[in-house]
Amino acid sequence: MRPDLANYEGREQAYVKHHFLADYVESLVFKIASAYRDVVYVDGFSGPWKDQGEKFEDTSFGIALQALRRAKAAWAKLGRPDVTMTALLVEKDPEAYARLQEIVPLYPDISIRTFNGDFVEIVPELLAAIPHRAFSFVLMDPKGWNIDMKAVAPLLRRPNCEIVFNFMFTMINWSASMPNIAIQAGLERLMPDTDWKDV
Ligand SMILES: C[S@@+](CC[C@H](N)C(=O)[O-])C[C@H]1O[C@@H](n2cnc3c(N)ncnc32)[C@H](O)[C@@H]1O
Repeated sequence: MRPDLANYEGREQAYVKHHFLADYVESLVFKIASAYRDVVYVDGFSGPWKDQGEKFEDTSFGIALQALRRAKAAWAKLGRPDVTMTALLVEKDPEAYARLQEIVPLYPDISIRTFNGDFVEIVPELLAAIPHRAFSFVLMDPKGWNIDMKAVAPLLRRPNCEIVFNFMFTMINWSASMPNIAIQAGLERLMPDTDWKDV
């Protein structure tokens, strides 16, 4: 289902992001399930955040869960009822996390696990929750960009994994020229062992 623009007043950039997710995740998980029995969607910064819909249809995890549901049903019809779809949803803010719980009973056909904490710290738990044979799709959609990519690397490096990282390019590019030590250290954590300064 396509995101409804009526739910995005004042956050039109999220409408664009959710359009991409709706199209991409749906076709990805359908194709992937032709070769992998287990598909795992990981949302590292789930929210809900500024949602206006009734049933999380304008959130990244709500859109992804609809896609997982449709792909699972389609494969069941094609004689593959054993395809499993799992969603691992991480949210740090306690209030948003409390609301995130409301999604679980809406998708009894999908195995959903929620985690209340910092995505970077939860990486080992996420890795343990993904079956070795599974294909994983990871969405990283933080508010800022202070992320320790070395700590996240084991999750992104696992075989059969795809990542979409949505970040504020202009802000990061602009910050790169600032001499502030904390900002420089944050950028080094985000792009470790690269020539980010020169680039
Ligand atoms: C931009 S919003 C995510 C929006 C969501 N992906 C969507 O498209 O509907 C970022 C979310 O990440 C949460 N957050 C911020 N820092 C976090 C962290 N270190 N670990 C997990 N969640 C975090 C915020 O509370 C907020 O809900």
